[in-house]
Amino acid sequence: MDGTHYKLMIPGPIEMDPAVLAEMGKPLRAHYGPEWARFYHETVALMKRVMLAERARVFLVAGPGTAAIEMALGGIVGDGKKVLVTTNGFFGDRLVQIARAYTPHVILLEIPWGEPLDPQQLDDALKRDPEIRAVALVHCETSTGVLNPLKELAEVCRRHDVLCVVDAVSSLGGAELRFDEWGLGAVASATQKGLECPPGLAPVAFSPEAWEVVEGTRAQQWYLSPKTWARYEEEWGEWHPHPTTMPSGLMNALHLSLTRILEEGLEARWARHERVARALRRGLEALGFSSVACEERFASPTVTAMRTPEGVEAGAVMRFLKDELGVLIGGGLGALKGKAIRVGHMGPTARMGEIVSLLYGVEEALRKMGRDVGPGQALRALNGS
Ligand SMILES: Cc1ncc(COP(=O)(O)O)c(C=O)c1O
Repeated sequence: MDGTHYKLMIPGPIEMDPAVLAEMGKPLRAHYGPEWARFYHETVALMKRVMLAERARVFLVAGPGTAAIEMALGGIVGDGKKVLVTTNGFFGDRLVQIARAYTPHVILLEIPWGEPLDPQQLDDALKRDPEIRAVALVHCETSTGVLNPLKELAEVCRRHDVLCVVDAVSSLGGAELRFDEWGLGAVASATQKGLECPPGLAPVAFSPEAWEVVEGTRAQQWYLSPKTWARYEEEWGEWHPHPTTMPSGLMNALHLSLTRILEEGLEARWARHERVARALRRGLEALGFSSVACEERFASPTVTAMRTPEGVEAGAVMRFLKDELGVLIGGGLGALKGKAIRVGHMGPTARMGEIVSLLYGVEEALRKMGRDVGPGQALRALNGS
């Protein structure tokens, strides 16, 4: 490492606002005591507002997003219940693996990469098998940039009286998500993406209906059992409302980033992310890229995945952006390796200025490869986008 800072436009972690980062450098505080307990509860209350989850039981677990996913899935199906996992990408496939670690009864509903999860197919699958107790799915599939129609999928789950367990790692904070209103069972996320905070904390929320199921489920975990976290919250709530040491510097950062998210306003924020994502798609399309998401209405506001033009190697575009612009973007996963780029635009980089400079870089990269790209070709496509 030579200490060079590359701007992070990978699909997470994302570029940090310096004020949020500075919170991590404050003198370390203890993770217990009455002031700390108040601070923890206040941060949980902010998280509930960001999730629109006033009815939910929310914990801020120290760990990556996967810890929250394991806590949600393990807590609900960990005693061997039947769970249906519907997947349309790398992170949906990961959910399958996690589910299988907790129960032998995992039913798959696979949808091709690039297409959205289908409420009708979910309905049919749930009709076929009334023993399914939960559905697990990814909201924003980070491998394809598809934002799955969560509201409609959750509605199907509700009709069948089945809990909807959601991986919202790359959507929360940047894409519309209404926990209470949409009747979600559990939501798991991470701090390093739309929540604009460094990696290391994993928020997880359970609806009252999901919590009833958690209480009746024999836990297979200790640290990652929601029941352990609830017990500490109940018994030690006034001074140490979680089972273990907490990364207190990260909690400072999260408190500030959540406060700022709420100050911006959730709807304004979702609209900002959508505007920027649309502009990026228009600009890249003007350069011959094509969206991995099969339809515009399913393209994510937080992560964009685009196939490169015929004959253009994704790695070459990525290298040019890194070396010449100091910007890191992601590459394709699975069958898209070498054939697609993935750009994270969340928080501070979900700004038109960032998109304009990225598009300028991609234009330059293509010209260097001998492609016939006129100056401003991508930028002109932004007019009216
Ligand atoms: C949709 C989705 N799920 C899960 C994860 C895993 O998150 P973590 O690495 O924080 O465990 C990611 C990370 O990129 C993701 O995008």
